[in-house]
Amino acid sequence: MEERPLRYGGAAVGTMTVGTSADTLSRRTRARLDRLADQVGVAAHTVLLSHRVHASREEAVGAREEERRRLYRDLHDGLGPSLAALALNAEVARESLPADPDRAAALLDRVVPALNATVGEVRSVVHGLRPSALDDLGLAAALRELAASFAGPRLRVRTVLEDDLTGLSAATEVATYRIAAEALHNASRHAGADEVVLRARREDGRVRVSVEDDGQGMRPDHVPGVGIASMTSRAEELGGRLGLSTGPGGRGTLVEAVLPVAIA
Ligand SMILES: Nc1ncnc2c1ncn2[C@@H]1O[C@H](COP(=O)(O)OP(=O)(O)OP(=O)(O)O)[C@@H](O)[C@H]1O
Ligand SMILES: [Mg+2]
Repeated sequence: MEERPLRYGGAAVGTMTVGTSADTLSRRTRARLDRLADQVGVAAHTVLLSHRVHASREEAVGAREEERRRLYRDLHDGLGPSLAALALNAEVARESLPADPDRAAALLDRVVPALNATVGEVRSVVHGLRPSALDDLGLAAALRELAASFAGPRLRVRTVLEDDLTGLSAATEVATYRIAAEALHNASRHAGADEVVLRARREDGRVRVSVEDDGQGMRPDHVPGVGIASMTSRAEELGGRLGLSTGPGGRGTLVEAVLPVAIA
């Protein structure tokens, strides 16, 4: 039995095992096996890559289905019944109007705030699909507004944003915004930081967005939650990547995502 490590670009991708009855192989045969292992390494790498693409596509489809289910629940269980109840109230008010205007007025007094609350619900469902600030303000101003919403007496929030963050694909805009939101959320919740800095800029065909805090850093035994997984999959879905590291000053946490400006 002869074994050869399979490598691609210096990284191990597997092992090639060759059954042989000979006790010792000639130098020539061993050299041939070495060359064969080089080629099999490339093939194995390709197979692994295609498995990975397949798995990430499945994950993306799964995430989309999950999103649809959430939307279905929000609309079906939340908005549907609220609107139906309001319609009923309005109808009863209409019927009581001639005989009992006071009752009609009391009903309508209840209907108006409930309608406003339902409008709020519609807004939040829509916000779940695409943050409305992106359309109202544009990405740069939406990020500035987002960052400001995390500032408080215990936390300074600075933004270093390129003004021209326009021309991005809709998916990249949403991913940039959501990654920034989760990273700011984590910094304000877990880091115990005094200051957090949100940066975003374009650089040839890519957007680089980062959130850096000067807090205690991520504990080595931190339990990964939905936040980090979702930031990572948002970046990878678009063919980008997300990195977590210690801040440049040796403390705190730096979350940095690099995303393509346009999706191929
Ligand atoms: N900026 C940070 N500074 C220190 N620790 C952090 C920071 N960001 C994340 N962590 C650690 O990493 C863990 C995982 O973060 P993640 O966002 O995945 O989950 P979570 O924030 O705990 O919950 P959620 O699923 O609501 O996001 C956190 O619980 C925390 O311990
Ligand atoms: Mg989180």
